[in-house]
Amino acid sequence: MNIGIFDSGLGGLLITKSLIKKLPEYNYTYLGDTKRVPYGNRSPETIYEFLRESVEYLFKHNCKLVIVACNTASAQALRRIQQDFLPSNYPDRKVLGVIIPTCEVAAPNNISKNIGILATNATVNSNAFVIELKKIRSDIKIIQQSAPLLVPFIENNELKLVEPILNKYLRSFKNGKIDTLILGCTHYPLIYNHIQKILGKKVKIISQDKIIPEKLKMYLLKHTEIEKVLTKKKQYQFNVKDLTEVMKKTVTKWFGKDVMLCQVDLRD
Ligand code: DGL
Repeated sequence: MNIGIFDSGLGGLLITKSLIKKLPEYNYTYLGDTKRVPYGNRSPETIYEFLRESVEYLFKHNCKLVIVACNTASAQALRRIQQDFLPSNYPDRKVLGVIIPTCEVAAPNNISKNIGILATNATVNSNAFVIELKKIRSDIKIIQQSAPLLVPFIENNELKLVEPILNKYLRSFKNGKIDTLILGCTHYPLIYNHIQKILGKKVKIISQDKIIPEKLKMYLLKHTEIEKVLTKKKQYQFNVKDLTEVMKKTVTKWFGKDVMLCQVDLRD
């Protein structure tokens, strides 16, 4: 069986790429809901419906566990999927998110006392990062900033135009207000350098593509009943619900020719 990775769009390919690098032996099936990205400005109910459909597609295509790389979907809909949908429909499958593992890396070290979170509107509104960080360390000060314009620019490969917008979004973190910044969105690792340049080297940036592979490795070591049913044939499938020339170009620019996108229909 495969490891499924879901994202609302193309950004989750970054985590997928680093998962494949760290744990290449497994089979991976990626699904990007490029037909309906971005999720960041949508309601919790809609995000839940979209996530449920995609998770079901991945289960029907032989995935034992699904990693919800999308922060927005993890923040707004993961709990409901785990508590309501899985037990009665797929009790033998697992769905994991990215928010708790990110907080587990960001919060425990003593350097991080003032943590900034940059994310979509829906993720910020859910308060998911704040809730999970405070569970680990209640004394942390947290500043959240939503950045609704970043994903469309990144998905359209307009990275040069991102800096003026970033300057505006990062203003609330500047002048020593934070020591650590969580990139709470699949797409932001692509603008890591722009962010570091604006905030300066003193701010530690937590990027999920660097931490999720290690977290998955630990999870699989602990859950041998899952690990042992995973197929180890190094087959990687990258599926999207809508495919345009711009998407193909963007993905080739990010990954070279390694990643070939296929268009799929959820009814298949
Ligand atoms: N994948 C989303 C996230 O990580 C960003 C794109 C969107 O808004 O759908 O929050």
